[in-house]
Amino acid sequence: MKVALGSDHGGYELKKIIKENLLEKGYEILDFGTESSKSVDYPEYGFKVGQAVVAKEAELGVVVCGTGIGISISANKVKGIRAALCTDSYMARMAREHNNANILALGARVIGSGVALDIVDTFINTAFSEFRHARRLEIITEYEGK
Ligand code: RB5
Repeated sequence: MKVALGSDHGGYELKKIIKENLLEKGYEILDFGTESSKSVDYPEYGFKVGQAVVAKEAELGVVVCGTGIGISISANKVKGIRAALCTDSYMARMAREHNNANILALGARVIGSGVALDIVDTFINTAFSEFRHARRLEIITEYEGK
């Protein structure tokens, strides 16, 4: 599976840890930056990861900023993206099972790297399985198309 990654400066260190961990596990990575702790604007990275997922260059995306809020809002502006900001593995599992989220957003200043890696693992390894929720997702998609 290919995973797209992106972060601003606030999420850079955690993105690096996530990238190393996913590479070790054999995942392919598309890293859209940023490449240092130098201050940048998070929307650019949320958009890039969102566009890559919608274009099917990657199956899922993980975006990181200080809180996870700004970059998740940005990723969600890309048509077809359902980005979920998660602070624990239960949310990550539900985001996939119920919401068919295609991007996980994390806040590097909110959770530690151990929790973050566990969340990423859960997100990637959980499938959309609650098809009774599909109607609700269709309602979102239909609204997005207006
Ligand atoms: C950057 O300082 C910070 O605002 C950003 O990483 C993020 O938390 C925004 O939502």
